[in-house]
Formats: sequence, C-alpha cells, structure tokens
Amino acid sequence: MDRTLSLLTEGYAWLPNRMRDSTDSVVRTRLLGKPVLAVRGPEAVRFFYDEGNVHRHGAIPAPVLDTLFGQGAVHTLDGDAHRTRKELFLPLLDPGRVADLAEHVAATWDEAARSWSERPRVVLFDEAGVVLTRGVCRWAGLPAEAVDAEPLARDLIAMVDGFATPGPRHLRARRARARQEARMTRLIEDVRSGKVTAPAGSVLERVARHHDVPEAPLDAGTAAVELLNVLRPTAAVSWFVAFSAHALHRWPAHRERLRAGDGAFATAFAHEVRRFYPFAPFLGGRTVKELTWHGESVPAGGMLLLDVYGQNHDEKLWGDPYTFRPERFLERPADPDELIPQGGGDPATGHRCPGERVTVGLLESLAVRLARLEYTVPEQDLRISLRRVPTRPRSGFAVTGVRVP
Ligand code: HEM
Repeated sequence: MDRTLSLLTEGYAWLPNRMRDSTDSVVRTRLLGKPVLAVRGPEAVRFFYDEGNVHRHGAIPAPVLDTLFGQGAVHTLDGDAHRTRKELFLPLLDPGRVADLAEHVAATWDEAARSWSERPRVVLFDEAGVVLTRGVCRWAGLPAEAVDAEPLARDLIAMVDGFATPGPRHLRARRARARQEARMTRLIEDVRSGKVTAPAGSVLERVARHHDVPEAPLDAGTAAVELLNVLRPTAAVSWFVAFSAHALHRWPAHRERLRAGDGAFATAFAHEVRRFYPFAPFLGGRTVKELTWHGESVPAGGMLLLDVYGQNHDEKLWGDPYTFRPERFLERPADPDELIPQGGGDPATGHRCPGERVTVGLLESLAVRLARLEYTVPEQDLRISLRRVPTRPRSGFAVTGVRVP
C-alpha cells in the first residue's frame, strides 16, 4: 500500500511507527508509487552508504531540489562526479576553518545580543538566523554590499522550512530559492569577470573557480547552488539554537556547566541537541540492484531509506532515548554511525554532511552564549509538533528583558 499520505500526516513518527511492528529494524512499504525498504542501525548505515547499493541521482524528488538543495547540487551526484564536487566542501572539515567561522558568528552574536536588550521581545529562532547568515557571509568572503542579512536570512530559512510540505510554505521556499539563485549567479559572474574580488581561499573564491571537468569551470548557476549549499545550512543551525534554548528552559541545570565554560560538556550538549531534537526525518537513495536486508527485499529502481530520526531515538542504541542527557556523550564518545542527525559514513568519500563539525562548533559556542545570557521566558506556545517537518518550538522561542552580563 502506498504510504505517501500517511508520511505527510505523521511526519517524524512515520517510519518509527512502522518500525515498531518490525522485529528486525526493517520496513517494506511504498512511497510516491515506488517500492521502499527502510532500515536503521549502524550496520544499516554502512549498507545505505555503500555506493554499490544506492545512487543519489534521480532519488531526490523535484520539489525538494527546487527548494532545499537546488538542481544539480552535490547531493544528487554519484561516483567520481560526486567526489570531485565534494572537494569543494572538504575544507569545511578543517578544524581551523571551523574555528574561524565560529569566531565570526560569535562576534556577530555578541554584537546582536547587545541590541536585544533595547527591545521588548526577541524571537531567538529569527535572531539566530540573521546572526548566522551575517557571520557565514563574512566568513565565506561575500562582499558586504552584496549581503542584506535580514532578507537573505528569511530566504535561506524559507528554503528549509518549505521543502517537505505542499501549500504556502512550499511556494515561499520556491520563490526564495529562485530569488537567491539569481542573486548568487550574478555574484559568481562578477567574481569571474573581476568586477568583485573574492578573498583568496574564501568559499566564494573556491566556488567561483571550481572545475568539475578540467576544460571549464562549473556553470554559474550550479556554482550559485553550491554557494547556497554552504550559506543555507549554516543559517539552518538556527533550528538547533532554538532547540538549545528550549533544552536550557526545560532542564536549567545544564546552564551552569555551560556558563562555567566546560568545553567537553558544551560538545556533549551540542551532540545531545542534535540527537534529541528532530530535524532530518530520514534519507533516501535509489536502489541500483535488488537489495535484501534482514530477509526483506526491494527491487532495482526502488528506494532505500535510512531512518535518521528513528535511529537517533532507538532504545537499543541509547537506552533512554527520550531523556535529554548530554552526559551520555561524556560517558562514551559519539560513534559516527550511531549518531546520524547529519547522515552517516565518511564525509570525505560519501554523502555525509561536510558541515557537521561546523554545526557542532557553532552550537558549542552559541549554547555557551545562550546559557550566559539573562532573559525571561514569557508565556508562549513552546510545543514542538512531530507532524511538522522541519519542526521547531511553535513560538520560535521568544524572550523578554534580555541582559548581557
Ligand atoms: C548534507 C544535515 C549543516 C553542508 C547533509 C545531509 C544531512 C545534513 C542530513 C545529507 C547526508 C546524506 O545525504 O547522506 C544537516 C543539518 C545541519 C547541517 C541538520 C545543521 C542545521 C550543514 C552546514 C553545512 C552543510 C553548516 C555547510 C557549511 C552540507 C552539504 C551536504 C550536506 C554540502 C551534501 C553532502 C553530499 O551530498 O556529499 N546535511 N547539515 N550542512 N550538508 Fe549538512
């Protein structure tokens, strides 16, 4: 039976609901008319990331490409074409660059936080989006005059917010992508023509100069898509900032250790936020041959799904998955194929997110800043609906009476 409708109504619980009836963490179903096998667990992560089993080309539905990733994005490539394009993003894994971006964003946050104290009420999700956008644009080498951080942040957030739903949110996402792809394409062309100078070694310069094949640079439109593939997900860390504020509100005891500057605890807190709170529900690839997993099969041309949200809440892996407990990552380091909010496998060779260190680095720094900030949490709707993808505290986490100590 095709389960596309129930995916739209059940959201994050869709696969976990079906997994509950499986003794072997495997589910066979149909989605968008195609046969689907869904798997979870560290062993299943290795199966999913084996390029002999699954390709990405043709796997991502057009409405997701036209909002979240962009046509021709690295997410859609396989084999050598993927590895060549991925090289563009690998410097994001370099700890020096990550620290540099975290510093840019922290400076932008500190500057913004001072202005929040003059306002009666601020919504942390929205403010974090602007701070992250401003910080990443500076760091990526975009000229200040090319960046109007507030509208750009709104568009970057809209692209993420509207990818998984029909209706007005989706239309907003499409319009946001079209607008920003056009702007970034002009910027790439200006860098190439010498009208704009991109700082040596910056993301902007690397993207503008990138060649997939030796004969010609990437067409300007695809280069713009990949530039946005750095800016957009960095702005999306605002989801995790809102979740961090939510966690500090519900479990205020964590505030003290963060405030004290306990670095190992800040890392553990960042991991637990990424594990506990929902973001990517699952990942999918197109099966290149008939695949069998724990006795269940899917033909070639079907889909293999990796149950990301379900794995991050699997009792077999986490023991007490619905308890927010950063200490679990102090007791045992995060196993990269167990904790998969940003995909599994090796980011250098497979599709795992190259921005994972960036995300953790930003969260470590911003969670400490959030813990040190003084504010009041007024009455508001802080519910996080599991039916909405991507979800967040409904109010966006509003605060009043902000004071920077
Ligand atoms: C891929 C999540 C932040 C750049 C991915 C994937 C996920 C993900 C689930 C797909 C993995 C797969 O297909 O196997 C997230 C989340 C983030 C985040 C939840 C935090 C909000 C970032 C940042 C950057 C980034 C900060 C860059 C600065 C990318 C790129 C890919 C990717 C370029 C495509 C990789 C490929 O296909 O090889 N991310 N990400 N992400 N992410 Fe992130």
